[in-house]
Amino acid sequence: MLSDNMTIQLNKQLNREFYSSYLYLAMSAWCTHAGYKGAASWFIIQHEEERVHAFKIYNYLLGQGSKIELHDVKNPPIEYTSLLECFQNSLAHEQKMSHSLNELCDLSNQEKDHATYGFLQWFVQEQVEEESSVLDIVSKLKLISDGNGIFLLDSQLLQRQAGTQEVK
Ligand code: FEO
Repeated sequence: MLSDNMTIQLNKQLNREFYSSYLYLAMSAWCTHAGYKGAASWFIIQHEEERVHAFKIYNYLLGQGSKIELHDVKNPPIEYTSLLECFQNSLAHEQKMSHSLNELCDLSNQEKDHATYGFLQWFVQEQVEEESSVLDIVSKLKLISDGNGIFLLDSQLLQRQAGTQEVK
């Protein structure tokens, strides 16, 4: 059984995951409008993965007999000045998500809640992969100085398959 505080904090994380899903949907829409078909597809996959993350927490809370509290999901930004800025915002967001997950791990340790600590480890590993893949894309975008390079990178982003972070 989860403590009241853990239930509150996991519900907040649930909301953050739904916001992440919403954020990536908005980024995908911006990419489509800007003509970045590959990045739009990449962000749609990310949008779907974040929804899966939210449902993992949703199911964990229900499985523990805890209440679900669905909060308002705030509006994500819908405009970016460049593809680089879009991915930089994604990276900053994932770094914040890693921070909030670390705080949840700290709380589960303080409460000696080993079940929740174990449950959160999947998310901790997922964050390592997400930060790494977005950082890689940001680094490539910083190296690229012309439209041809961005076109080639966008074509690579189109190759991402659901369920992976891989961009070759
Ligand atoms: Fe589910 Fe990308 O945080």
